[in-house]
Amino acid sequence: MLLSGRGSNLQALLDARAASWEVAIAVADVEDAPGLARAEAAGVPALAIPRRDFADRAAFEDAFDAALRTAGADLVVLAGFMRVLGPEFVVRWYDRLVNIHPSLLPAFRGLDTHRRALAAGVGWHGCTVHFVRAALDAGPIILQAAVPVRPDDTEEALAARVLAREHHVLPQAIGWIADGRIRVENERVVAADPEDMTVNPSQ
Ligand code: GRF
Repeated sequence: MLLSGRGSNLQALLDARAASWEVAIAVADVEDAPGLARAEAAGVPALAIPRRDFADRAAFEDAFDAALRTAGADLVVLAGFMRVLGPEFVVRWYDRLVNIHPSLLPAFRGLDTHRRALAAGVGWHGCTVHFVRAALDAGPIILQAAVPVRPDDTEEALAARVLAREHHVLPQAIGWIADGRIRVENERVVAADPEDMTVNPSQ
């Protein structure tokens, strides 16, 4: 699990740990990321790997890769990890690298999604869990959740409404992957068992 800050999605994963999966390690690119304390409190190894300790991005990402492998990670989850990973890292963890993004992709890739959603006047906003590809906030969509945008919404109110849904869809998506219920086919996420109707891209 990679993060940069608050770690509320990490907390949702820690709270949802199941028979088929656990959180092997939490790694942050910032030393004082509050999420690291959440991992420690839950008895999960927590590690900070600051960018300034490395000469270039390749060495920095190698350190992340090594930490994840040493911890025995099978899947890497980006939850509030505020860096764009290089194509080498993405290829190493291809279809084993998942991101949660606070918008209904492909709308509002990048930062400030709630502010931009309000400015665009959309009626619905939400979040997306997806497999990561080299392009920013792109890749096969695993699960999305939509929330209504209210006429009197502030950025903070909308963000809180979306975040509550993030905490629901992220553990659900991780559970599907851990249980082998989904796979990627032609850059689309499909149910591993065509009869499995509960694996639905939208909740
Ligand atoms: C979440 O909104 C996530 O979608 C985005 O960054 C935020 C991280 O929040 N990528 P937290 O650190 O999990 O609380």
